[in-house]
Amino acid sequence: MGNIRQLKLGTVIHGVGGSTSGWRHPDMPSDASVNLEFYKQQAQKAEEGKFDFVFIADGLFINEKSIPHFLNRFEPITILSALGAVTKRIGLVGTLSTSYSEPFTVARQFASIDHISGGRAGWNVVTSPLEGSALNFGGKAHPSHPDRYRIAEEYLEVAKGLWDSWEDDAFVCDKESGVFFDPLKLHRLDHKGEFFSVQGPLNIARSKQGQPVVFQAGSSDSGRSLAAKTADAVFTGPESIEEAKEFYKDVKQRIAQNGRNPEHTLIFPGIGTIIGRTQEEAEAKYQEIASLVTIDKALDHLGRFFEHHDFSQYPLDEAFPDLGDFGSNSFRSTTDRIKHRAKEHNLTLRQVALQAATPRSVFIGTPERIADLLQQWFEEEAADGFIVGAAYPGALDEFVDSVVPILQARGLYRDDYEADTLRGNLGIPVPENRYSARKSASAGVN
Ligand SMILES: Cc1cc2nc3c(=O)[nH]c(=O)nc-3n(C[C@H](O)[C@H](O)[C@H](O)COP(=O)(O)O)c2cc1C
Repeated sequence: MGNIRQLKLGTVIHGVGGSTSGWRHPDMPSDASVNLEFYKQQAQKAEEGKFDFVFIADGLFINEKSIPHFLNRFEPITILSALGAVTKRIGLVGTLSTSYSEPFTVARQFASIDHISGGRAGWNVVTSPLEGSALNFGGKAHPSHPDRYRIAEEYLEVAKGLWDSWEDDAFVCDKESGVFFDPLKLHRLDHKGEFFSVQGPLNIARSKQGQPVVFQAGSSDSGRSLAAKTADAVFTGPESIEEAKEFYKDVKQRIAQNGRNPEHTLIFPGIGTIIGRTQEEAEAKYQEIASLVTIDKALDHLGRFFEHHDFSQYPLDEAFPDLGDFGSNSFRSTTDRIKHRAKEHNLTLRQVALQAATPRSVFIGTPERIADLLQQWFEEEAADGFIVGAAYPGALDEFVDSVVPILQARGLYRDDYEADTLRGNLGIPVPENRYSARKSASAGVN
Protein backbone atom coordinates (compact mmCIF):
# COMPACT_ATOMS: atom_id res chain seq x y z
CA MET A 1 0.00 0.00 0.00
CA GLY A 2 2.91 2.29 0.84
CA ASN A 3 3.71 3.17 -2.77
CA ILE A 4 0.17 3.81 -3.96
CA ARG A 5 -0.49 7.47 -4.61
CA GLN A 6 -3.09 8.71 -2.12
CA LEU A 7 -4.77 12.08 -1.97
CA LYS A 8 -3.97 14.60 0.76
CA LEU A 9 -6.39 16.80 2.67
CA GLY A 10 -6.21 20.11 4.46
CA THR A 11 -8.88 22.43 5.79
CA VAL A 12 -9.12 26.19 6.18
CA ILE A 13 -10.26 27.27 9.61
CA HIS A 14 -11.94 30.53 8.77
CA GLY A 15 -13.98 31.60 11.81
CA VAL A 16 -17.38 32.92 10.77
CA GLY A 17 -16.57 32.05 7.15
CA GLY A 18 -15.15 33.35 3.91
CA SER A 19 -18.38 34.95 2.75
CA THR A 20 -20.12 38.22 3.54
CA SER A 21 -23.06 36.62 5.31
CA GLY A 22 -21.95 33.23 6.66
CA TRP A 23 -22.01 34.63 10.17
CA ARG A 24 -25.79 35.01 9.87
CA HIS A 25 -26.31 31.27 9.62
CA PRO A 26 -28.38 30.18 12.64
CA ASP A 27 -25.77 27.60 13.74
CA MET A 28 -22.70 29.84 13.37
CA PRO A 29 -21.21 31.19 16.62
CA SER A 30 -20.91 34.89 15.77
CA ASP A 31 -17.56 35.16 17.58
CA ALA A 32 -16.10 32.09 15.79
CA SER A 33 -13.20 34.09 14.27
CA VAL A 34 -11.78 34.90 17.70
CA ASN A 35 -13.00 31.84 19.57
CA LEU A 36 -10.15 29.53 20.59
CA GLU A 37 -12.56 26.72 21.45
CA PHE A 38 -14.01 26.88 17.91
CA TYR A 39 -10.52 26.68 16.33
CA LYS A 40 -9.55 23.85 18.65
CA GLN A 41 -12.68 21.84 17.81
CA GLN A 42 -12.14 22.29 14.08
CA ALA A 43 -8.45 21.30 14.27
CA GLN A 44 -9.24 18.25 16.38
CA LYS A 45 -12.05 17.20 14.04
CA ALA A 46 -9.68 17.51 11.07
CA GLU A 47 -7.12 15.43 12.95
CA GLU A 48 -9.79 12.80 13.64
CA GLY A 49 -10.24 12.71 9.84
CA LYS A 50 -6.43 12.23 9.45
CA PHE A 51 -6.11 15.51 7.55
CA ASP A 52 -2.60 16.54 6.60
CA PHE A 53 -3.02 20.10 7.80
CA VAL A 54 -5.18 22.94 8.99
CA PHE A 55 -4.65 26.25 7.25
CA ILE A 56 -5.08 29.78 8.61
CA ALA A 57 -5.37 32.49 5.94
CA ASP A 58 -4.55 36.13 6.57
CA GLY A 59 -4.62 39.68 5.24
CA LEU A 60 -3.22 43.00 6.40
CA PHE A 61 -5.79 45.63 5.58
CA ILE A 62 -9.48 46.06 6.36
CA ASN A 63 -12.09 48.72 5.98
CA GLU A 64 -15.77 48.83 6.86
CA LYS A 65 -16.62 46.89 3.67
CA SER A 66 -14.44 43.88 4.47
CA ILE A 67 -16.21 40.58 5.19
CA PRO A 68 -16.96 39.92 8.89
CA HIS A 69 -14.21 37.30 9.36
CA PHE A 70 -11.59 39.78 8.15
CA LEU A 71 -12.77 42.46 10.60
CA ASN A 72 -11.99 40.57 13.77
CA ARG A 73 -9.75 37.49 13.57
CA PHE A 74 -6.67 35.77 15.01
CA GLU A 75 -3.15 36.41 13.74
CA PRO A 76 -1.99 33.06 12.18
CA ILE A 77 1.28 32.44 14.05
CA THR A 78 -0.39 33.02 17.39
CA ILE A 79 -3.37 30.74 16.81
CA LEU A 80 -1.20 28.03 15.22
CA SER A 81 1.01 27.98 18.31
CA ALA A 82 -2.06 27.40 20.45
CA LEU A 83 -3.33 24.66 18.10
CA GLY A 84 0.07 22.97 18.20
CA ALA A 85 -0.46 22.34 21.90
CA VAL A 86 -3.89 20.69 21.50
CA THR A 87 -3.15 18.46 18.48
CA LYS A 88 -0.57 15.73 17.86
CA ARG A 89 -0.22 14.82 14.20
CA ILE A 90 -1.93 17.38 12.00
CA GLY A 91 0.14 19.99 10.13
CA LEU A 92 -0.18 23.67 11.05
CA VAL A 93 -0.01 25.99 8.05
CA GLY A 94 -0.38 29.77 8.20
CA THR A 95 -0.17 32.73 5.85
CA LEU A 96 2.53 35.33 6.27
CA SER A 97 3.24 38.09 3.78
CA THR A 98 6.69 38.60 2.29
CA SER A 99 5.81 42.20 1.41
CA TYR A 100 5.24 43.38 4.98
CA SER A 101 7.60 41.48 7.27
CA GLU A 102 11.28 40.72 7.79
CA PRO A 103 12.76 37.33 6.85
CA PHE A 104 14.76 36.98 10.07
CA THR A 105 11.64 37.35 12.23
CA VAL A 106 9.47 35.14 10.07
CA ALA A 107 12.07 32.36 9.66
CA ARG A 108 12.38 32.36 13.42
CA GLN A 109 8.63 32.29 14.06
CA PHE A 110 7.97 29.35 11.74
CA ALA A 111 11.03 27.49 13.05
CA SER A 112 9.65 27.98 16.55
CA ILE A 113 6.23 26.59 15.62
CA ASP A 114 8.04 23.72 13.93
CA HIS A 115 9.78 22.90 17.23
CA ILE A 116 6.71 23.47 19.38
CA SER A 117 4.70 21.06 17.22
CA GLY A 118 7.42 18.45 16.67
CA GLY A 119 7.87 19.18 12.94
CA ARG A 120 4.37 20.11 11.77
CA ALA A 121 4.73 23.73 10.60
CA GLY A 122 3.97 25.12 7.15
CA TRP A 123 4.20 28.66 5.82
CA ASN A 124 1.81 29.90 3.15
CA VAL A 125 3.89 32.52 1.37
CA VAL A 126 1.79 35.37 -0.02
CA THR A 127 2.74 38.74 -1.43
CA SER A 128 -0.28 40.75 -0.09
CA PRO A 129 -2.66 41.80 -2.83
CA LEU A 130 -4.25 44.78 -1.05
CA GLU A 131 -2.70 48.20 -1.65
CA GLY A 132 -4.10 49.46 1.65
CA SER A 133 -1.68 47.14 3.48
CA ALA A 134 1.04 49.75 2.87
CA LEU A 135 -0.89 52.22 5.05
CA ASN A 136 -0.42 49.93 8.04
CA PHE A 137 3.32 49.46 7.54
CA GLY A 138 4.98 52.83 7.37
CA GLY A 139 3.05 54.22 4.43
CA LYS A 140 5.61 53.54 1.66
CA ALA A 141 4.02 52.69 -1.70
CA HIS A 142 2.60 49.19 -2.11
CA PRO A 143 5.15 47.38 -4.29
CA SER A 144 3.94 46.52 -7.79
CA HIS A 145 2.77 42.98 -8.57
CA PRO A 146 6.07 41.96 -10.30
CA ASP A 147 8.17 43.59 -7.59
CA ARG A 148 6.23 41.81 -4.86
CA TYR A 149 7.16 38.50 -6.45
CA ARG A 150 10.83 39.52 -6.86
CA ILE A 151 10.90 40.44 -3.17
CA ALA A 152 9.23 37.13 -2.29
CA GLU A 153 11.83 35.13 -4.19
CA GLU A 154 14.77 36.76 -2.43
CA TYR A 155 12.89 36.58 0.88
CA LEU A 156 12.50 32.80 0.58
CA GLU A 157 16.16 32.42 -0.33
CA VAL A 158 17.04 34.24 2.89
CA ALA A 159 14.54 32.35 5.06
CA LYS A 160 15.69 28.97 3.79
CA GLY A 161 19.32 30.01 4.26
CA LEU A 162 18.61 31.05 7.84
CA TRP A 163 16.84 27.77 8.58
CA ASP A 164 20.13 26.00 7.74
CA SER A 165 22.20 28.10 10.17
CA TRP A 166 22.82 25.05 12.35
CA GLU A 167 23.74 21.64 10.99
CA ASP A 168 21.56 18.91 12.46
CA ASP A 169 24.09 17.67 15.00
CA ALA A 170 25.54 21.09 15.85
CA PHE A 171 24.30 21.13 19.44
CA VAL A 172 26.66 18.70 21.15
CA CYS A 173 25.55 19.62 24.70
CA ASP A 174 28.43 17.73 26.32
CA LYS A 175 28.12 18.59 30.01
CA GLU A 176 31.36 16.79 30.85
CA SER A 177 33.55 18.87 28.55
CA GLY A 178 31.39 21.99 28.72
CA VAL A 179 30.92 22.07 24.92
CA PHE A 180 27.42 23.29 24.06
CA PHE A 181 27.79 23.44 20.29
CA ASP A 182 30.29 22.62 17.56
CA PRO A 183 31.41 25.95 15.99
CA LEU A 184 32.19 24.21 12.69
CA LYS A 185 28.49 23.40 12.40
CA LEU A 186 27.27 26.93 12.91
CA HIS A 187 26.96 29.03 9.72
CA ARG A 188 26.42 32.70 9.06
CA LEU A 189 24.36 33.48 6.00
CA ASP A 190 25.89 36.89 5.15
CA HIS A 191 23.17 37.64 2.62
CA LYS A 192 23.40 40.96 0.80
CA GLY A 193 20.83 41.21 -1.96
CA GLU A 194 18.62 43.69 -3.76
CA PHE A 195 15.98 43.85 -1.04
CA PHE A 196 17.47 42.27 2.07
CA SER A 197 20.67 42.36 4.04
CA VAL A 198 20.78 39.63 6.65
CA GLN A 199 23.86 38.37 8.42
CA GLY A 200 22.50 35.50 10.52
CA PRO A 201 22.86 32.98 11.96
CA LEU A 202 19.32 32.23 13.10
CA ASN A 203 18.93 31.64 16.81
CA ILE A 204 17.08 28.36 16.56
CA ALA A 205 18.06 24.90 15.29
CA ARG A 206 16.50 22.93 12.45
CA SER A 207 13.44 20.94 13.42
CA LYS A 208 12.55 17.30 13.06
CA GLN A 209 11.36 17.93 9.49
CA GLY A 210 14.44 20.00 8.63
CA GLN A 211 12.59 23.09 7.48
CA PRO A 212 8.94 24.17 7.64
CA VAL A 213 6.94 23.20 4.56
CA VAL A 214 6.66 26.12 2.11
CA PHE A 215 3.22 26.66 0.56
CA GLN A 216 2.58 29.26 -2.15
CA ALA A 217 -0.80 30.73 -3.05
CA GLY A 218 -0.61 33.14 -6.01
CA SER A 219 -1.84 31.80 -9.37
CA SER A 220 -0.66 34.51 -11.77
CA ASP A 221 2.30 33.87 -14.07
CA SER A 222 4.69 35.31 -11.46
CA GLY A 223 2.98 33.30 -8.72
CA ARG A 224 3.37 30.07 -10.69
CA SER A 225 7.05 30.81 -11.33
CA LEU A 226 7.71 31.42 -7.66
CA ALA A 227 5.94 28.17 -6.76
CA ALA A 228 7.99 26.29 -9.34
CA LYS A 229 11.26 27.59 -7.91
CA THR A 230 10.60 27.30 -4.22
CA ALA A 231 7.36 25.71 -3.03
CA ASP A 232 6.71 22.31 -1.47
CA ALA A 233 2.96 22.78 -1.96
CA VAL A 234 0.70 25.14 -3.91
CA PHE A 235 -2.78 26.45 -3.11
CA THR A 236 -5.03 27.30 -6.00
CA GLY A 237 -8.69 28.20 -6.53
CA PRO A 238 -9.92 26.68 -9.81
CA GLU A 239 -13.60 26.75 -10.71
CA SER A 240 -13.63 23.65 -12.90
CA ILE A 241 -11.67 20.47 -13.47
CA GLU A 242 -10.44 21.83 -16.81
CA GLU A 243 -8.99 24.91 -15.15
CA ALA A 244 -7.46 22.78 -12.41
CA LYS A 245 -5.82 20.44 -14.93
CA GLU A 246 -4.33 23.33 -16.87
CA PHE A 247 -2.88 24.79 -13.68
CA TYR A 248 -1.58 21.41 -12.49
CA LYS A 249 0.13 20.61 -15.78
CA ASP A 250 1.63 24.07 -16.13
CA VAL A 251 3.00 24.27 -12.58
CA LYS A 252 4.39 20.71 -12.66
CA GLN A 253 6.13 21.49 -15.97
CA ARG A 254 7.64 24.65 -14.55
CA ILE A 255 8.89 22.68 -11.53
CA ALA A 256 10.62 20.17 -13.80
CA GLN A 257 12.12 23.04 -15.84
CA ASN A 258 13.65 24.33 -12.62
CA GLY A 259 15.38 20.99 -12.13
CA ARG A 260 13.13 20.01 -9.24
CA ASN A 261 11.10 16.82 -8.81
CA PRO A 262 7.42 17.58 -9.67
CA GLU A 263 6.28 14.79 -7.33
CA HIS A 264 7.75 16.69 -4.41
CA THR A 265 5.54 19.76 -4.88
CA LEU A 266 1.87 19.04 -4.22
CA ILE A 267 -1.01 20.99 -5.72
CA PHE A 268 -4.07 21.73 -3.59
CA PRO A 269 -7.21 23.27 -5.06
CA GLY A 270 -9.40 24.91 -2.43
CA ILE A 271 -12.95 23.52 -2.55
CA GLY A 272 -16.16 24.42 -0.73
CA THR A 273 -18.12 21.21 -0.27
CA ILE A 274 -21.85 21.24 0.42
CA ILE A 275 -23.05 17.81 1.50
CA GLY A 276 -26.60 16.45 1.70
CA ARG A 277 -28.20 13.03 2.13
CA THR A 278 -29.67 13.65 -1.32
CA GLN A 279 -28.66 15.99 -4.17
CA GLU A 280 -31.81 18.03 -3.42
CA GLU A 281 -30.87 18.44 0.22
CA ALA A 282 -27.39 19.65 -0.76
CA GLU A 283 -28.90 22.11 -3.28
CA ALA A 284 -31.26 23.41 -0.59
CA LYS A 285 -28.26 24.04 1.68
CA TYR A 286 -26.57 26.02 -1.06
CA GLN A 287 -29.73 28.07 -1.60
CA GLU A 288 -29.96 28.76 2.13
CA ILE A 289 -26.39 30.10 2.17
CA ALA A 290 -26.94 32.12 -1.02
CA SER A 291 -30.17 33.64 0.32
CA LEU A 292 -28.32 35.23 3.24
CA VAL A 293 -26.34 37.48 0.88
CA THR A 294 -27.68 40.94 0.02
CA ILE A 295 -26.64 42.62 -3.23
CA ASP A 296 -25.00 45.50 -1.31
CA LYS A 297 -22.75 43.10 0.57
CA ALA A 298 -22.03 41.21 -2.65
CA LEU A 299 -20.85 44.46 -4.28
CA ASP A 300 -18.56 45.16 -1.31
CA HIS A 301 -17.15 41.65 -1.54
CA LEU A 302 -16.47 42.02 -5.24
CA GLY A 303 -14.91 45.45 -4.64
CA ARG A 304 -12.24 44.00 -2.35
CA PHE A 305 -10.65 42.09 -5.24
CA PHE A 306 -10.46 45.38 -7.16
CA GLU A 307 -8.63 47.42 -4.50
CA HIS A 308 -11.89 48.17 -2.65
CA HIS A 309 -13.42 49.72 -5.75
CA ASP A 310 -16.93 51.16 -5.25
CA PHE A 311 -19.17 49.10 -7.54
CA SER A 312 -22.36 50.76 -6.25
CA GLN A 313 -21.76 53.56 -8.79
CA TYR A 314 -22.69 51.30 -11.75
CA PRO A 315 -26.14 50.10 -12.89
CA LEU A 316 -26.74 46.61 -11.50
CA ASP A 317 -28.51 45.05 -14.46
CA GLU A 318 -26.29 46.28 -17.24
CA ALA A 319 -23.12 44.67 -18.58
CA PHE A 320 -20.23 44.35 -16.10
CA PRO A 321 -18.26 47.63 -16.41
CA ASP A 322 -15.10 47.76 -18.49
CA LEU A 323 -12.36 48.19 -15.89
CA GLY A 324 -9.38 48.03 -18.23
CA ASP A 325 -6.28 46.94 -16.36
CA PHE A 326 -7.76 47.82 -12.99
CA GLY A 327 -7.26 45.13 -10.34
CA SER A 328 -4.10 43.68 -11.85
CA ASN A 329 -1.91 45.13 -9.10
CA SER A 330 -3.87 43.30 -6.41
CA PHE A 331 -5.56 39.90 -6.85
CA ARG A 332 -4.30 39.61 -10.41
CA SER A 333 -5.29 36.04 -11.24
CA THR A 334 -8.71 36.49 -9.62
CA THR A 335 -9.56 39.83 -11.23
CA ASP A 336 -8.38 38.59 -14.64
CA ARG A 337 -10.74 35.65 -14.31
CA ILE A 338 -13.71 37.79 -13.19
CA LYS A 339 -13.25 40.18 -16.13
CA HIS A 340 -12.74 37.40 -18.63
CA ARG A 341 -15.81 35.44 -17.51
CA ALA A 342 -18.06 38.52 -17.44
CA LYS A 343 -17.12 39.28 -21.03
CA GLU A 344 -17.36 35.72 -22.27
CA HIS A 345 -20.83 35.11 -20.80
CA ASN A 346 -22.20 38.68 -21.14
CA LEU A 347 -22.82 38.90 -17.40
CA THR A 348 -24.39 41.86 -15.63
CA LEU A 349 -22.80 43.46 -12.59
CA ARG A 350 -25.46 41.86 -10.37
CA GLN A 351 -24.63 38.37 -11.71
CA VAL A 352 -20.88 38.88 -11.29
CA ALA A 353 -21.26 40.22 -7.74
CA LEU A 354 -23.54 37.40 -6.61
CA GLN A 355 -21.25 34.78 -8.15
CA ALA A 356 -18.25 36.30 -6.37
CA ALA A 357 -20.06 36.44 -3.03
CA THR A 358 -21.54 32.93 -3.13
CA PRO A 359 -19.48 30.97 -5.63
CA ARG A 360 -21.31 27.80 -6.66
CA SER A 361 -18.83 25.04 -6.07
CA VAL A 362 -19.03 21.92 -8.21
CA PHE A 363 -18.65 19.90 -5.00
CA ILE A 364 -22.34 19.94 -4.05
CA GLY A 365 -24.12 16.63 -3.44
CA THR A 366 -24.20 13.36 -1.54
CA PRO A 367 -21.05 12.01 0.13
CA GLU A 368 -20.68 9.47 -2.71
CA ARG A 369 -20.94 12.20 -5.34
CA ILE A 370 -18.34 14.32 -3.56
CA ALA A 371 -16.03 11.29 -3.24
CA ASP A 372 -16.50 10.52 -6.97
CA LEU A 373 -15.52 14.08 -7.88
CA LEU A 374 -12.49 14.10 -5.59
CA GLN A 375 -11.39 10.79 -7.08
CA GLN A 376 -11.84 12.08 -10.61
CA TRP A 377 -9.88 15.29 -9.95
CA PHE A 378 -7.14 13.31 -8.23
CA GLU A 379 -6.84 10.55 -10.85
CA GLU A 380 -7.03 12.93 -13.81
CA GLU A 381 -4.19 15.04 -12.39
CA ALA A 382 -6.15 18.11 -11.50
CA ALA A 383 -5.00 17.83 -7.88
CA ASP A 384 -2.68 16.02 -5.46
CA GLY A 385 -5.03 16.88 -2.63
CA PHE A 386 -7.67 19.39 -1.57
CA ILE A 387 -8.20 22.13 0.96
CA VAL A 388 -11.70 21.70 2.21
CA GLY A 389 -13.29 25.02 3.15
CA ALA A 390 -16.15 25.01 5.63
CA ALA A 391 -18.93 26.69 3.63
CA TYR A 392 -21.38 26.49 6.56
CA PRO A 393 -21.31 25.38 10.22
CA GLY A 394 -20.90 21.62 10.51
CA ALA A 395 -19.45 21.27 6.99
CA LEU A 396 -16.11 19.89 8.22
CA ASP A 397 -17.83 17.40 10.55
CA GLU A 398 -19.99 16.19 7.68
CA PHE A 399 -16.96 15.79 5.43
CA VAL A 400 -14.96 13.87 8.03
CA ASP A 401 -17.90 11.66 9.04
CA SER A 402 -19.32 10.90 5.60
CA VAL A 403 -16.78 11.51 2.79
CA VAL A 404 -13.53 10.41 4.47
CA PRO A 405 -14.75 6.80 5.11
CA ILE A 406 -15.67 6.45 1.42
CA LEU A 407 -12.25 7.68 0.32
CA GLN A 408 -10.61 5.28 2.79
CA ALA A 409 -12.72 2.35 1.61
CA ARG A 410 -11.60 3.09 -1.95
CA GLY A 411 -7.94 3.09 -0.88
CA LEU A 412 -7.61 6.72 -1.96
CA TYR A 413 -6.90 8.09 1.46
CA ARG A 414 -4.97 7.04 4.57
CA ASP A 415 -6.53 5.10 7.46
CA ASP A 416 -3.93 6.57 9.78
CA TYR A 417 -1.06 9.03 9.72
CA GLU A 418 2.12 7.62 8.17
CA ALA A 419 4.40 9.97 10.09
CA ASP A 420 4.45 12.54 12.85
CA THR A 421 5.79 15.42 10.75
CA LEU A 422 3.99 17.39 8.04
CA ARG A 423 6.66 16.51 5.46
CA GLY A 424 6.40 12.85 6.42
CA ASN A 425 2.63 12.79 5.90
CA LEU A 426 2.78 14.79 2.68
CA GLY A 427 5.46 12.39 1.41
CA ILE A 428 7.95 15.13 0.62
CA PRO A 429 11.61 14.82 1.57
CA VAL A 430 13.43 16.54 4.40
CA PRO A 431 15.82 19.02 2.72
CA GLU A 432 19.36 18.20 3.66
CA ASN A 433 21.22 20.98 5.47
CA ARG A 434 23.12 22.79 2.68
CA TYR A 435 26.42 22.92 4.60
CA SER A 436 26.30 19.25 5.59
CA ALA A 437 25.50 18.42 1.97
CA ARG A 438 28.52 20.40 0.75
CA LYS A 439 30.78 18.71 3.27
CA SER A 440 29.64 15.23 2.26
CA ALA A 441 29.94 16.15 -1.43
CA SER A 442 33.52 17.36 -1.00
CA ALA A 443 34.38 14.36 1.21
CA GLY A 444 33.08 12.15 -1.62
CA VAL A 445 35.24 13.94 -4.19
CA ASN A 446 38.45 13.76 -2.17
C1 LIG B 1 -6.47 28.64 -1.46
C2 LIG B 1 -5.84 30.00 -1.48
C3 LIG B 1 -5.51 30.62 -0.27
C4 LIG B 1 -4.96 31.90 -0.26
N1 LIG B 1 -4.67 32.47 0.93
C5 LIG B 1 -4.25 33.75 0.97
C6 LIG B 1 -4.07 34.40 2.20
O1 LIG B 1 -4.27 33.82 3.26
N2 LIG B 1 -3.67 35.68 2.19
C7 LIG B 1 -3.38 36.36 1.04
O2 LIG B 1 -3.02 37.53 1.11
N3 LIG B 1 -3.52 35.75 -0.14
C8 LIG B 1 -3.96 34.47 -0.20
N4 LIG B 1 -4.12 33.84 -1.40
C9 LIG B 1 -3.45 34.36 -2.57
C10 LIG B 1 -3.93 35.59 -3.05
O3 LIG B 1 -5.18 35.31 -3.56
C11 LIG B 1 -2.90 36.09 -4.04
O4 LIG B 1 -2.04 36.92 -3.36
C12 LIG B 1 -3.57 36.84 -5.11
O5 LIG B 1 -4.24 35.90 -5.86
C13 LIG B 1 -2.59 37.66 -5.91
O6 LIG B 1 -1.59 36.89 -6.46
P1 LIG B 1 -1.67 36.35 -7.93
O7 LIG B 1 -2.03 37.51 -8.79
O8 LIG B 1 -0.32 35.77 -8.20
O9 LIG B 1 -2.72 35.29 -7.91
C14 LIG B 1 -4.70 32.58 -1.46
C15 LIG B 1 -5.02 31.97 -2.68
C16 LIG B 1 -5.59 30.70 -2.70
C17 LIG B 1 -5.94 30.09 -4.01
